[in-house]
Amino acid sequence: MNILVIGGGGREHAIAWKLSKDPKVSKIYVSPGNGGTALEEKCENIDITSIDELIIFAKKNNIEYTVVGPEEPLTKGIVDRFRENNLKIFGPSEKGALLEGSKAYAKEFMKKYKVRTAHYETFTSLEKAMDYLKSCEYPVVIKADGLAQGKGVVICKTKEEGETTLLDFMEKDIFNGGGKTVVIEEFLQGVEASILSVTDGDIIIPFISAKDHKQIFNGNNGPNTGGMGVVAPNPYVTEEVLKDFTENIMNPTLKGINEEGLDFIGVIFFGIMITEKGVYLLEYNVRMGDPETQGVITLMESSFNDLIESALSKNLKNFTIEWSNKYSCCVMMVSKGYPLKYEKNKEISIKDSYKGKMFISGAQLIGNNLMTSGGRVLSMVTTSETLDKAIIECYKDIENISFQGSYYRTDIGKI
Ligand code: AMP
Ligand code: GLY
Repeated sequence: MNILVIGGGGREHAIAWKLSKDPKVSKIYVSPGNGGTALEEKCENIDITSIDELIIFAKKNNIEYTVVGPEEPLTKGIVDRFRENNLKIFGPSEKGALLEGSKAYAKEFMKKYKVRTAHYETFTSLEKAMDYLKSCEYPVVIKADGLAQGKGVVICKTKEEGETTLLDFMEKDIFNGGGKTVVIEEFLQGVEASILSVTDGDIIIPFISAKDHKQIFNGNNGPNTGGMGVVAPNPYVTEEVLKDFTENIMNPTLKGINEEGLDFIGVIFFGIMITEKGVYLLEYNVRMGDPETQGVITLMESSFNDLIESALSKNLKNFTIEWSNKYSCCVMMVSKGYPLKYEKNKEISIKDSYKGKMFISGAQLIGNNLMTSGGRVLSMVTTSETLDKAIIECYKDIENISFQGSYYRTDIGKI
């Protein structure tokens, strides 16, 4: 079997690596891939990104199915285009991708299908939004409707902060249209968890949970990033939390997907908040998380290829995902300056052997050297019988890797 994976980050490296473990898979093309997929067994990077060219490539190279890593091509309708060309592809249709691509749509969907979420109002008028701020309790959360590269959510502690945020989003238009519509919602206090799941439209199966660490500095300080590390399963996701999540979030979501005719075969990533009042949904993503994928896929014992094939043939009801009973820890190493302006082109040096698995996020293979090319550079993942051991081993491993200005948090899984 030949498979095509779209994307070029650590998530896609982890997806390609896991697919490569299935003996039925002979070749994995990764578009555009990175220095990690360049070195991975059975993998080959391809330098194509336009949807039209990818369709031609998939036809020519006998691609069995395509897996889409990032949200952007999904919101641009890559799935609909591939299907029009009779090509199998794992991911939601353009309409389904609105669950991530439009916060206003997602909130309306949650309300309609009684998915438990924070109270909110949607605004397209700056004046009305400003007026609404006067009656809010603080902190309040302001969200840009569209994709905003992880910068579209601001927790405003005061009315003045809220006003500045609304002006930035709606008047200065810092997200090029993405903030013209805003959602203003109630602030929820609690512990966050990431739960990925897979659906074929008929049933939905949750993966083991993960705990992301979003801020750049130890102690959850500093600006938000794409994620600085993950532990899985998330220690806060108890049986009780899972039951609440299943009844009040996951099952109503599947009902909504069907009633709205979203034509969704792919991954739904639930960003949840565990509060004293129960589990609330913060957001949907319509793809796997990064670095959640790296932390979770290393604990998956089933073949990811079999799982995707079952979903594509709408046969998930006969599939059970087998998980290791171990714990994983994933620590992300980033470039100096990230998540703001960061340095690039630094050579990655590996001092000693390591036991875990290294996934490359932003580095290219130049000659025989791995050179940094992004803010998020690589992650190390270890699995062990206890969470504490997984954390200790992960840090032992990552100490062997460095580049000029390399940085990682030292409290992943400890907070
Ligand atoms: P989102 O993209 O909606 O997940 O928001 C990004 C981050 O903002 C989340 O991971 C939370 O840390 C925070 N956040 C979003 N919505 C809320 C809320 N209603 N209350 C508290 N924090 C929130
Ligand atoms: N780690 C969060 C995300 O992938 O959106």
